[in-house]
Amino acid sequence: MAKTVAIGVTGSIAVYKIVDLVSKLKKDDIEVVVMMTEGATKFVSPLTFKTISGREVLTDLWQESQEWKVQHIGIAEQIDFLLIAPATANFIAKMAHGIADDFLSTVVLANTAPCLIVPAMNSNMYKNSVVQDNIKKLIDYGYKFMDPDSGLLACGVIGQGRLPEIDDIYTQVNRLLFPKKDLLGKRLMVNAGTTCEDIDPVRFIANRGTGKMGYCIAQEAIARGAEVILVSGKSHLEPPAGVKFESVWGAEEMCRVMLDYQSSCDIIIGAAAVGDFRIVNIAEEKIKKMDGHSEKMILELAENPDILKTLGTMKRSHQIMVGFAAETQNVLENARIKLSKKNLDFIVANDVTAEGAGFACDTNIVTLIGRDGKIKSLPKMSKEDVAAAIIDRVVELIKS
Ligand code: C5P
Repeated sequence: MAKTVAIGVTGSIAVYKIVDLVSKLKKDDIEVVVMMTEGATKFVSPLTFKTISGREVLTDLWQESQEWKVQHIGIAEQIDFLLIAPATANFIAKMAHGIADDFLSTVVLANTAPCLIVPAMNSNMYKNSVVQDNIKKLIDYGYKFMDPDSGLLACGVIGQGRLPEIDDIYTQVNRLLFPKKDLLGKRLMVNAGTTCEDIDPVRFIANRGTGKMGYCIAQEAIARGAEVILVSGKSHLEPPAGVKFESVWGAEEMCRVMLDYQSSCDIIIGAAAVGDFRIVNIAEEKIKKMDGHSEKMILELAENPDILKTLGTMKRSHQIMVGFAAETQNVLENARIKLSKKNLDFIVANDVTAEGAGFACDTNIVTLIGRDGKIKSLPKMSKEDVAAAIIDRVVELIKS
């Protein structure tokens, strides 16, 4: 039976882009019900959405329904999926606090189908703690979010807040609407974020890893039915709902925690940016500056365990292990060396100097290199899509 997707459109300049999304979903024979807030109708006329979706656009809580049922309850019962895009700061706040004062917000409260929220707003608004707290609250309630893209915003500012590409929203809707459950019964452990090595009670050494790639893998694996353990170093991200979350600080602690789970896992993925060195003698008190009395401040470093290599030596025959190789030169060659040194099934290699790839970035450009010699170069993709491609490859290996 054809699926029905409801799209809640709220008042952002990005409203016009959603017309294209409605058209793409319609081409796939998906029924699309568009609901608009009053603000959204100031940017694009409901007539445009009515023409593209082939259905009445719902805007008014008090409009007369053709059917006997209260209309907002009827819609909530019919839909297989609810998308809120673009989602303004105001609408996110309403959702987080259960306010139901227009058609769309009443449908949101009555809805029981999966819901994806795609924020679009000015970058300072997006970063505002109130907005971020509302987003966290909704994630805890089980709502899914897509991070806004970074770039030039309608207000002329460069920052994070743009509506993601329509193709990426379309892919994400499809993924959630037709979820593959090909990891049911599997236990997957992924590490993420940066490890931190203490220098003294206030300072530490970390790196540019944000955790985004590993968190996307955890999210994808949960969606596909796996039991997921996310072992995370420092990251500003919210752990996806449903994961077993282990928060760690240094590389040695990360290694210890992963060793505890190692034997019970079917799949282990190393996406963390693990620091290769730690401080030999952590100062008990804050180190004082020398006021020019000394030329050098020397910190003695010791090598950290290579976590994947350690886990690789204990790899069980049914286990699949995946690593990352962030390189700045000779990408494929260096990645192949790591693949074999760490006893991995495949490695995800990327040139971190390429635009749109690597740390603190929403996209990545990667090549999957298999122990079996199979190489797959992927185009620039969102990290959510890279995570899906990695899990696809894992599933292929499990089946082979
Ligand atoms: O050797 P390199 O650090 O480039 O290898 C990267 C891969 O190895 C990543 O998957 C990373 O998570 C993992 N790694 C590790 N322990 C380390 C260093 C890297 O598990 N000490």
